[in-house]
Amino acid sequence: MSDSKRKILVTGATGQIGGALVRLLAAESELRVVAAARDQGKATSLSVPVVMLDYDREETLAPALEGIDSIFMVTGYTVDMLKQSKAIVNAAKRAGVKHVVHLGAPGDDDTKVGHWGWHQFVERYIEWSGISFTHLRPEIFMQNLLGYGGAKADSKGIIRHYIGDARISWVDCDNVAAVAAVALKRPDIHAGKTYHLGYEARSHSEIAEILTQVLGQQFIAESRPPQEFLEQMLAAGADPAYMKCAYQNWIDYEARAIPGQDAVYGNFFDLTGRKPTTWAEFAKQHAEAFKY
Ligand SMILES: NC(=O)c1ccc[n+]([C@@H]2O[C@H](COP(=O)([O-])OP(=O)(O)OC[C@H]3O[C@@H](n4cnc5c(N)ncnc54)[C@H](OP(=O)(O)O)[C@@H]3O)[C@@H](O)[C@H]2O)c1
Repeated sequence: MSDSKRKILVTGATGQIGGALVRLLAAESELRVVAAARDQGKATSLSVPVVMLDYDREETLAPALEGIDSIFMVTGYTVDMLKQSKAIVNAAKRAGVKHVVHLGAPGDDDTKVGHWGWHQFVERYIEWSGISFTHLRPEIFMQNLLGYGGAKADSKGIIRHYIGDARISWVDCDNVAAVAAVALKRPDIHAGKTYHLGYEARSHSEIAEILTQVLGQQFIAESRPPQEFLEQMLAAGADPAYMKCAYQNWIDYEARAIPGQDAVYGNFFDLTGRKPTTWAEFAKQHAEAFKY
């Protein structure tokens, strides 16, 4: 009986992690998966039913959450995430949602990185709501090298970045989605847990070397002034508050001032039964996008 199946709402379904998660969960016969999109036209390629949900339009929240057991909660690259997250948690509580899996950011609880701290405020708000939760704290996405904040990278062999020789911890968005899927399938096991997701620590020069070896073309890393990142993001219309945090983050990474910035975690196999994506594998999988 389809009515006995748990119903899961995936927000951010038109984005990187939410999209990958929908593809994973669509194959699960014991679940009913619904994708949330503020622009349903962008969600036509998803193989699950789509509902309208715009965090900034309060009237869309209750209808989208009706009958939902669990949600995957994604917000975009904006300080509006604070009020948006509050709105959806409030609506989820009213709708009787039982479990929330939240896509957060890296860092320990005492992090000084601004936007990572915003994600932790959201975590605390979810906990305060009384809804059962799983918090995901992914490190930096490997996909950032393909594009960031909506801006597509076209490297032509030059990997531009802003953190000098510093090593940082990386994770493939598909691995983040895989852990989200596990937490949504078995909330009984994953309730109350916080998972740090970062599986390979590399500097950009090391990544350029890996790309060169795997793809057989020359790649070089070029560290640029963080001010250039900020100017480009603002010119592209990105949220200034979020991007100022990211800008400061690059400065602090280069100074190796962020505790745990190159930490890697051994939890992926235990959580999913698979090995996490390595940079070499990521290069192979995205060869067409990297090649020039
Ligand atoms: N990049 C990194 O290295 C990194 C590392 C750790 C954590 N994070 C966190 O990851 C999150 C972003 O994940 P992502 O890369 O998968 O995002 P993404 O690809 O930019 O997708 C964002 C999703 O949120 C949706 N969205 C935005 N505003 C909305 C609104 N008002 N109502 C409903 N939906 C809305 C977007 O819909 P549209 O398609 O309509 O825009 C899209 O589906 C951020 O919270 C960021 O802090 C990023």
